Amino acid sequence: MCGIFAYLGPRQASTVLINGLRRLEYRGYDSTGIAVKDGTIQLHKKVGKVGDLETILPTQVPGHIGIAHTRWATHGIVNDSNAHPHQSVNGKVVIVHNGIIENTRQLRTSLTVQGVELQSDTDSEALAHIIERELSVDNNPEKAVRRTLHLARGTWGLCVLFLEHDVIVCARNGSPLIIGQGDDEMFVSSDPHALAPYTHRVVFLEDGEIATLTSTSMKLSTLKGKDFNPSITVLEEDWGESELGEYPHFMLKEIYEQPDALRHCISGRLDRVQGNGRLGGLELEPRDLGKVPHVRLLGCGTAYNAAEIGQIMIEKLARIPAVAHISSEFRHNDPVINPNALHFAVTQSGETADTLSAVKEIHLKGGSVFGVVNVVGSSIARECGKGVYIHSGPEQAVASTKAFSNMVAALSVFALQIGRSRSTSKERGKQLINGLQEIPHLIEEYLENQGPILEAVEMIKDAKCVLFLGRGISAPVAKEGALKLMEIAYIPCLAYPAGEMKHGPIALLEEGSPVIFIAPNDHVKMKTISAIHECKARGARVILIHEKGDDIANEADISIPIPPVHSLLSPLLTVIPMQLIAYHTALALGCNVDRPRNLAKSVTVE
Ligand code: F6R
Repeated sequence: MCGIFAYLGPRQASTVLINGLRRLEYRGYDSTGIAVKDGTIQLHKKVGKVGDLETILPTQVPGHIGIAHTRWATHGIVNDSNAHPHQSVNGKVVIVHNGIIENTRQLRTSLTVQGVELQSDTDSEALAHIIERELSVDNNPEKAVRRTLHLARGTWGLCVLFLEHDVIVCARNGSPLIIGQGDDEMFVSSDPHALAPYTHRVVFLEDGEIATLTSTSMKLSTLKGKDFNPSITVLEEDWGESELGEYPHFMLKEIYEQPDALRHCISGRLDRVQGNGRLGGLELEPRDLGKVPHVRLLGCGTAYNAAEIGQIMIEKLARIPAVAHISSEFRHNDPVINPNALHFAVTQSGETADTLSAVKEIHLKGGSVFGVVNVVGSSIARECGKGVYIHSGPEQAVASTKAFSNMVAALSVFALQIGRSRSTSKERGKQLINGLQEIPHLIEEYLENQGPILEAVEMIKDAKCVLFLGRGISAPVAKEGALKLMEIAYIPCLAYPAGEMKHGPIALLEEGSPVIFIAPNDHVKMKTISAIHECKARGARVILIHEKGDDIANEADISIPIPPVHSLLSPLLTVIPMQLIAYHTALALGCNVDRPRNLAKSVTVE
């Protein structure tokens, strides 16, 4: 989704900006642009990738101050004029903006009445014109931005460049913005990952804050005009190597990284002697956990699917009600919040606006929320204050793989911890720990012998629709498989709990319809077999993910065996063939595996 990068300092700004944009690319975008000041302001923007922008840049873009943007269209179609930066009518102000201005129609109308000819269909452009108008009042950049933002309603992460001032003013409200402090240079980014090559000393702007930056100074104030001192955070966790290496795509690389990512996630968090989980970041004692009335988990997309698995594990091990909620629905249903309940916000990026809003809703109603987050220092991690980092490392492909596994693993450790404080015996706890510690190795074993994935791809790649079915803990895995295939191969997919199939989706089945079943060797397997029979009786062809050595393989047209696994942890194995099926199908159809159309890695608008 939209990304911002800005620079002030001794280096050539255009080079730093292009590098910054490259590190934002993984988030997904449709157009890009930069503005650099050197006496005049040079502005270049274009639909397409950062590489396309480079082709239109002159060989020299002199200047040491600049702002840059990757756009993911919200207001206005994808075209060059809607791309950012946007310039004011007299060219004195140039802005890049993430977020959505809700009263844009009103602002645009009042500008038109004043004779301003708007150049784009965006909500952002209006801000540039209003800032220029306000600048004419007192020629004070910070005050001009502040007065403008008092007129705006909505969300913003905003950077403003001025023709006549050597400063960048930035502001945040609901859309992340981080200032990076170097030696006599200053950076701004919407994503801490993009700052990592330059500095680890950062200031996270909070909602309602404004920063006025030169290359050597940082002045912070609130929207109301109160100055305050910056609080510098040193980012310890570097995303590390995020190059492709020997892999053709990030998605494949990340699928293969799952064993090691899981090792990182569970390391130091399991107490083998007591058969217990140990998530120190939650700061919860057994006596606290013993009193919890219920657990709620929030997430979107893949994170929601992981939360549903967490829900099942928590109920099974702790015998208390747990429920997963889709974040985007949560606050709009005016949920009742019990301050004694535990809430978890599950998110890879830590920036998903729907999940952030759900967290704020719970806070507003007196509850507390723990983050289950990958990106260290992200907005949701900071809003929650406490929680669990899932330690997947950088996930660059838009389709989430290793973050899903680590969310499930982190939630299983929590389920164990709360389970042990209530109804789970030490013996059962130890079995789960053994199972969890075996998983990385079992995934490696499976990856070495993946089964007939390419045969499965042949069966589904031209299908009108693919049905994914699983029961119990495999029902959310079916959803995750369907989401992956739909996202990157653009094949319509339906996922259902297998028992629900006969209540509707069965109507879709005809001769040759592909159905993917997930049926590990657990207590609902026999029920799943009935659903397989029902599908086959209607001519469907079955791709079956099952445990090696299980007779259920005889039910399949294409059988994909995984190593036998602890029944509560089966999602960590059964999901892998589905990730591979999605990956290879997308490749077979010539789709852009890592950057699927219309999708963004970090969805920062509601
Ligand atoms: C699926 C996918 C999305 C994300 C969703 C939530 O492959 O990537 O469905 O899972 O947008 O993102 P996070 O986890 O960053 O909150």
